[in-house]
Amino acid sequence: MLEDVQKGLEGVLVAESGLSSIDGDAGRLIYRGYNIETLAREATYEEVLYLLWHGELPTSEELEEFAGSIQDEREIDADVLEIVRRQAVADEEPMAALRTAVSALSMSEPEDDADPEDLDATLRKSRRITAKIPTILAAFERYRLGEAPVDPHPDLGLAANFLYMLTGEEPDPVAAETIDQALILHADHGLNASTFTSMVIASTMADVYSAVTGGIGALSGPLHGGANQDVMEVLIEVDESDRDPLEWVKNAVDEGRRIPGFGHRVYNVKDPRAKILQERCAELAEANGDEKWYDYTTTIEQYLTEEQGLVEKGIAPNVDFYSGTVYYQLGIPVDMYTPIFAMSRVGGWVGHVLEYQDDNRLIRPRGRYIGPDDAEWVPIEER
Ligand code: ACO
Repeated sequence: MLEDVQKGLEGVLVAESGLSSIDGDAGRLIYRGYNIETLAREATYEEVLYLLWHGELPTSEELEEFAGSIQDEREIDADVLEIVRRQAVADEEPMAALRTAVSALSMSEPEDDADPEDLDATLRKSRRITAKIPTILAAFERYRLGEAPVDPHPDLGLAANFLYMLTGEEPDPVAAETIDQALILHADHGLNASTFTSMVIASTMADVYSAVTGGIGALSGPLHGGANQDVMEVLIEVDESDRDPLEWVKNAVDEGRRIPGFGHRVYNVKDPRAKILQERCAELAEANGDEKWYDYTTTIEQYLTEEQGLVEKGIAPNVDFYSGTVYYQLGIPVDMYTPIFAMSRVGGWVGHVLEYQDDNRLIRPRGRYIGPDDAEWVPIEER
């Protein structure tokens, strides 16, 4: 029995997994043995989902059937749509709205799929949840704008269809490809906080709706998925105040502020996903003829790494540092960035739930009690 408390479970091994592996010193990430750079370049998000959930790359027939089965599940019931509408009208935070809507999806679960111990049923439910998250998010955004939701497009893949449902217009191929790539890059990342949350819930043999709902809650925090919005908000703040980004970052460092998008519990070097998104950010800047946002990020990165030596301390840009400027240049509202992360990471949550439940053991750690040992009861009127 370990006697030392491992605060934040840092470095503690709690499970074996064949899904993804991170080499934090080399800056390498693989999903089931495939390098993230190769997957981002060659695969589609649906193909990566198949890889994560089924353990191997699909053949073209398998992919067609799998992607088709997700495509068939994109629509959401009127009841859930109404929940989404009400939250949009009430100006709810998008991550909170998504959490509530995903939880509500179980209302329309077919009876055949009710057994949480049936892994095939979990897979069917997971396809449903994954298919409906983009529809929920796009409908939420449309309602906020006072517009009607757009029905899913029958011929577009998950990423392109999401953009289509947001705007009602077929997206240009570069935008669709960029979102698809971002979804691939965020799909899995070892036992991060939200994935572990999903696993803890699944280890009680609760259903996958609960596991995904819990994952969304954990992802929403600023120390995890919320950082991508924080990065963009900082950049907008710098821009609107007419301040030089260099001046801003110097000040932030002097004030001892944490720079969102920097640092990671596992990486000691620049996150490989940040490198890929940085390239996309530069390409979009060039295509838009506006390098401002790219320049802001690189100025901040350069100062922190070269002048402040943060990289030597193992604090380098993480995936969130560049995803914000990529989404911003595609015209996506800032508070949709973390929900897009959830739209992707559901792949990892489900993959880990399936893997863990296949050989389940209840996750139940212990805490060391440090409270009083022999407190004397005082009746309420005497306190
Ligand atoms: N800016 C400045 N300094 C930092 C930053 C940062 N972003 N991150 C860590 N540090 C410093 C800390 O102040 C601390 O310094 P000290 O030892 O002098 O006190 C040291 O680095 C270690 O920090 P910890 O908080 O112990 O590192 P931990 O591994 O617990 O934290 C975390 C990782 C939470 C991601 C942290 O780096 C952070 O808050 N980053 C900003 C938020 C962010 O970008 N989150 C997204 C993470 S990636 C993801 O979830 C997809």
